[in-house]
Amino acid sequence: MVIETRNLYHVYPGNVQALQDVNIKINVGEFTAIVGQNGSGKTTLALHLNGLLKPTKGDVFIKGKNTRNSDVEELSKVVGYVYQNPNHQLFNLTVKQELAFSLKRLLSKEETEKRLKETVELFGIQDILDSNPFSLSLPVKKIVAMAAIHAMRPEIFVLDEPTTGQDFVGMKLIEKAILNVSREGKTIIVITHDMGFVARHAKRVIVMAEGKVIGDDEPKKIFDLSNNGAKRVIREARINPPHTSLLSYALRFDYNLQNFPTDIITPTQFADVVSSNKLRGW
Ligand SMILES: Nc1ncnc2c1ncn2[C@@H]1O[C@H](COP(=O)(O)OP(=O)(O)OP(=O)(O)O)[C@@H](O)[C@H]1O
Ligand SMILES: [Mg+2]
Repeated sequence: MVIETRNLYHVYPGNVQALQDVNIKINVGEFTAIVGQNGSGKTTLALHLNGLLKPTKGDVFIKGKNTRNSDVEELSKVVGYVYQNPNHQLFNLTVKQELAFSLKRLLSKEETEKRLKETVELFGIQDILDSNPFSLSLPVKKIVAMAAIHAMRPEIFVLDEPTTGQDFVGMKLIEKAILNVSREGKTIIVITHDMGFVARHAKRVIVMAEGKVIGDDEPKKIFDLSNNGAKRVIREARINPPHTSLLSYALRFDYNLQNFPTDIITPTQFADVVSSNKLRGW
């Protein structure tokens, strides 16, 4: 287990109860999505994982160590947090300086150059190294923000709404970058409102509402609308389920295709069912 929160509470000034009794455990290499309505506490939870916020009550353990006893710099080498808004993260004059900023303090010149080269290749940003990060489009800015964090090689990668506000091409670029990082075996946590992304990639979904975790399961269970418990969680967290889940549910219950499975969540899975022998006799 690399992350554990125990009875975690966070109260912001003004008595805003942002997290209430959050208990989660995340294993090495898991790809987890955190979803839930606006203001449900997702970003607050993420900020506890790299020590930018400390619990009001309860504890957070990263690789067994309590974040109360670690400073942000030490934690940021293990947990990389990519901000919801890249403008809050980027501050250097060129992309290259942005990538090298933290490395220079930790590594020799040769090692920094080697690390930069690997990072640039992984994220495909060779052509913009001399650009000013602020002149880039939003998706490319987000990729630079991800690359700058990845350059530090954190074992845990936390991405706060990476695909929000992107057009289709931008979204696919970012999706590809995240998958490349995931293939390296890193523990990935993605906060998102994009349920298509969750259905395609997450192995686990943590659902939040009003500062509490109200669901924690595999995506196909979270999105199975034939299950009343799952339906309640989806309603409470104001989630827009993947289109495939809605379509499967409609076929089963509105069109009375009684054997149609409701735990399929991607178009590919849908196509597999439709083209399989199961359709015979309908
Ligand atoms: N710095 C702050 N001071 C006071 N209240 C805050 C602060 N940051 C967040 N909050 C409040 O804490 C609650 C949780 O906010 P948080 O940003 O964690 O939600 P979120 O799930 O990330 O929302 P979104 O989907 O809109 O990004 C909200 O009620 C929010 O208004
Ligand atoms: Mg947020």
